[in-house]
Amino acid sequence: MEDGRKIIFNKESEEDSVYSLSLRPAVLNDFVGQKDLVNNLRISIQAARQRGEPLEHMLFSGPPGLGKTTLANIVTHEMNARITITSGPAIERAGDLIGVLTNLEKGDVLFIDEIHRLSKVVEEFLYPAMENFKIDFVVDKGPYAKTINFNLKPFTLIGATTRSGLLAAPLRDRFGIFHHLDFYETADLAEIVLRSAKKLNVDLSADAAQALASRSRGTPRIANRLLRRVRDFAQVKTQMNKISLELTAQAMQTLAIDDQGLDDLDRRMLNVMREFYHGGPVGIEALTATLNEEIDTLVDVVEPYLLKIGFVKRTARGRALTSKALKHCGVKIAAGAGDSEELFS
Ligand SMILES: Nc1ncnc2c1ncn2[C@@H]1O[C@H](COP(=O)(O)OP(=O)(O)O)[C@@H](O)[C@H]1O
Ligand SMILES: [Mg+2]
Repeated sequence: MEDGRKIIFNKESEEDSVYSLSLRPAVLNDFVGQKDLVNNLRISIQAARQRGEPLEHMLFSGPPGLGKTTLANIVTHEMNARITITSGPAIERAGDLIGVLTNLEKGDVLFIDEIHRLSKVVEEFLYPAMENFKIDFVVDKGPYAKTINFNLKPFTLIGATTRSGLLAAPLRDRFGIFHHLDFYETADLAEIVLRSAKKLNVDLSADAAQALASRSRGTPRIANRLLRRVRDFAQVKTQMNKISLELTAQAMQTLAIDDQGLDDLDRRMLNVMREFYHGGPVGIEALTATLNEEIDTLVDVVEPYLLKIGFVKRTARGRALTSKALKHCGVKIAAGAGDSEELFS
């Protein structure tokens, strides 16, 4: 946003962030879906504005690409405030925050992405800042060391996390407002790609939008990404900015995205579970080792959607495939067989 101050760190890929700027809704009315969340947010914003007070600290949780960063920017915009953006891993020492915090004006937003990755020390430094708008810091060393207290202007901390479960209780307790973002309905995703198509100046047919939406893993970021890929495909294959259902289907095939929206990595995970681990249960560490992937990629990106569509389930002993996944992988299911444990035992 042009009134934003400084982007210290941004996790999105270059392409995503460049396009996000233009595709990202700027006001709450343009934010598609998540109805309950949006209604609650609207009330919080209106109430704070009527009182002339900053919003309470707010936490957004949910899988990547569902709109946490977008919401932080929208909230800032609706409050006529300014935003400073940083992220848990970018703040190495508590000292990194002093300048940021002391520069905040009343009502400003400090957005900390991936807040579950803050170090303990930084986190504890934040507690008094969040609670009483005060910070204590030590200057000098040894016998000359002294603690300086500094009063901050009342600001709003907005945290985003893909894993609210990893947040320490004292940190969680200091947020007044929690919002969890869930995967989007296909109809919402179709609306999102139609709006994005308009912004990108491409002519997307309704059935093509529907097809893209149903392959987007419930995730607006993926929906927009697929749209851009199909747009490339249309441009190269037909020299036109017109996207039909047929063209979408061809593009999806080229991208190896199946009718459930699963891509190569999803299929590799399902196949490894089936072939190496007899359907599971298998621990996530073993799975990441066999797949040679980061644990965070599997836990944050791949697994949530497979859990959501009921392809994978979590058991006390690890992750297991379901019969639904086996059916999708084209494995014949014995009549009456239940989930993987019975199937493979
Ligand atoms: N509700 C929504 N309506 C329209 N577009 C959305 C919505 N949520 C997300 N997007 C799009 O998806 C992209 C990813 O959203 P983002 O806020 O970066 O996700 P997160 O921070 O949760 O990973 C945004 O750039 C925006 O274009
Ligand atoms: Mg984000």
